[in-house]
Amino acid sequence: MQILTALEPLRTALATLKSGDNSNHPGDRPPLALVPTMGALHEGHLTLVREAKRRAAHVVVSIFVNPRQFGPGEDLATYPRQLEADAALLEAEGVDVLWAPTVEAIYPRGYATTVQVGGLDAVLCGAARPGHFDGVATVVTKLFNQVQPDVALFGEKDWQQLAIIRRMARDLDLTHPHADRIVGVPTVREADGLAMSSRNKYLTAEERTAAPAMNRAMRAAAAQIAAGEPVADVLAVLRDTVLAAGFHRVDYADLRDAETLEALTVPGPGPARLLVAAHLGKARLIDNVAVGGGQTC
Ligand code: PAF
Repeated sequence: MQILTALEPLRTALATLKSGDNSNHPGDRPPLALVPTMGALHEGHLTLVREAKRRAAHVVVSIFVNPRQFGPGEDLATYPRQLEADAALLEAEGVDVLWAPTVEAIYPRGYATTVQVGGLDAVLCGAARPGHFDGVATVVTKLFNQVQPDVALFGEKDWQQLAIIRRMARDLDLTHPHADRIVGVPTVREADGLAMSSRNKYLTAEERTAAPAMNRAMRAAAAQIAAGEPVADVLAVLRDTVLAAGFHRVDYADLRDAETLEALTVPGPGPARLLVAAHLGKARLIDNVAVGGGQTC
């Protein structure tokens, strides 16, 4: 595995990979998959990497703690950074390139451009974290342009992020990868249902015990909505249940169209998603589950 931090060596390495000089991955899969991450890798990220390997001949994983997606007072300074341990995990998975750019390689001196996906970025996490999705859309555009992957993989745990990146790929006619080549991978969970997240590290032992209550309550709520119970009542009980479990604030507990993120007061004809963000100690946990369709991952 090559570990690269500057753009020119990345371009050379990718050209070599794509020309097949180093290829020991025969087959008719597209040449290149990208798994963008901020590091502090866990089983959720490794699942993305394994899926990437299934879908492409070569895999690039990026690790970049993107300052532009953290707001004032958020955890940019304390976000877990463990590049050496992450590199060892990726090497063991057979990743071809670890792209760990310096801040300068992403935002060179004088950098002035922002990518904004209007509307979708104003609701849910976008309302609680103004500017967050501008930072995400901007860095993902940069990573797509730098790596030019055929396919890119993202966790469904960040459902809104996935919807925004798909919209952006459609709107900007991105070909590397285009919207259909942006793959969402189902959330990987601990045995007790807690969605895996690098930020779970912020939970104390007591909070970690309380944390799965959110997903339990969400699954119950999704089943009630699918069974026809009034959405507003179910969401009110969901909020109360999460607070009673020890969370001190619920940013949102909403039923939304899975693609447009439009708020739903009754499940629509298309796929719907139940999404929650709530604070437990120093951690802000997010999760989402499908409603109806027999799937609640
Ligand atoms: O999901 C993440 O880890 C980040 O938001 C991403 C997509 C790598 C952009 O920084």
